Amino acid sequence: MNREDFPLLKQDIIYLDSSATSLKPQWVIDKMNDYYSNYSANAHRGDYDLSFKVDQEYEGAREIVQKFLNASSLEEIVFTSGPTEALNLIARGFFEQLLEANDEVLITTSEHASNVLPWFRLANKLGIKVNYIPLDSNYYVTLDNVKKAVTEKTKVISLAGITNVIGDKRPIKEITEFAHAHNIFVVVDGAQMVPHMEVDVQDLDIDFLAFSGHKICGPTGIGVLYGKKELLEHLEPFSLGGGMNESFDNPNEIYLKPLPTRLEAGTQNIAGVLGLGEAIKYIESIGYEKITKHVHNLRHYLIEKLLPLKYIDIINLESDSGIVAFNVANIFSQDIAYYLNKYNICVRAGEHCAKILKNSVGVTNTVRVSLYFYNTYEEIDNLVELLSDYDKIVKEMF
Ligand code: ALA
Repeated sequence: MNREDFPLLKQDIIYLDSSATSLKPQWVIDKMNDYYSNYSANAHRGDYDLSFKVDQEYEGAREIVQKFLNASSLEEIVFTSGPTEALNLIARGFFEQLLEANDEVLITTSEHASNVLPWFRLANKLGIKVNYIPLDSNYYVTLDNVKKAVTEKTKVISLAGITNVIGDKRPIKEITEFAHAHNIFVVVDGAQMVPHMEVDVQDLDIDFLAFSGHKICGPTGIGVLYGKKELLEHLEPFSLGGGMNESFDNPNEIYLKPLPTRLEAGTQNIAGVLGLGEAIKYIESIGYEKITKHVHNLRHYLIEKLLPLKYIDIINLESDSGIVAFNVANIFSQDIAYYLNKYNICVRAGEHCAKILKNSVGVTNTVRVSLYFYNTYEEIDNLVELLSDYDKIVKEMF
């Protein structure tokens, strides 16, 4: 649906890689072009009308994000370059000051690198322990397994809301309820979750959330760090510079601005912020109900068509998102991607930045189809037709 909104879809391409990055609708492109063409002044610095307009639009986008997440205040919304920066900032700027040797952080083996490496760094630096919540037979996280993994040393649970290979949706509300009853912080990597479901940070009682613009039809290079205000107040910025300071005179007299500005040093990605605001408006104009239903139906259709092909092993038969990860017997995943590319079909192959998932699944590489609302049944028919002839794959894959 809404295919006419996406200029890239005018090309003869079947795009099945939306978990890597979604396509961008004309709305978003126009908004950014308008900024660059007609009012590309800086934000928060100028005393002239063009700059006032930028201030208004920039802070307007923050308000869009605040309402979108149902955050309780604008101060809780910080623009970053993406969830990677946000998750690093959370680990280094907040937890590095708080955690001590032998404290435990719980993650899972299906996390993306951005939610593993910042914790590994703290393990090396502070001597904290990174432990894993066991996954069930579908590679899901259950509340029971969270309970089993928590010890009196557990200080943080850091999880993707939806993972990027298995595509499983985590029971975040139940986890935060249990975690908070045990004084444990919950960090949510929302990169794959926010594009696919409504996220109400107050209802879910999330302490920190990170998500990216480019996976919800927005531009690259922009993302959001949400944090409860009382926590963000203690988050130490890793960049100091213009815009975020109130005054400074010497090393002992540095005064920073209040939230959220104190965490946004330097000239920001203004076009990105405006594009993100527009992308959220666009997603809201369609509505998650329609998005989720369509993606769910497409996924089901694809699974039904792949199941009879006995040489295809689907890793995540059960899943709540638009991701189908599979392997074709005796063929390297990247060779399948190259083969499909000959027919203008874009899929991702490899480890998908989830490099410790192999410890649970036993498979290193997969082909990943990731669907979004602009995909169609016909596109899936085309994909399945190409995968239905094993001999053709072998003949043409190089
Ligand atoms: N994190 C993105 C993916 O899963 C890039 O493909």
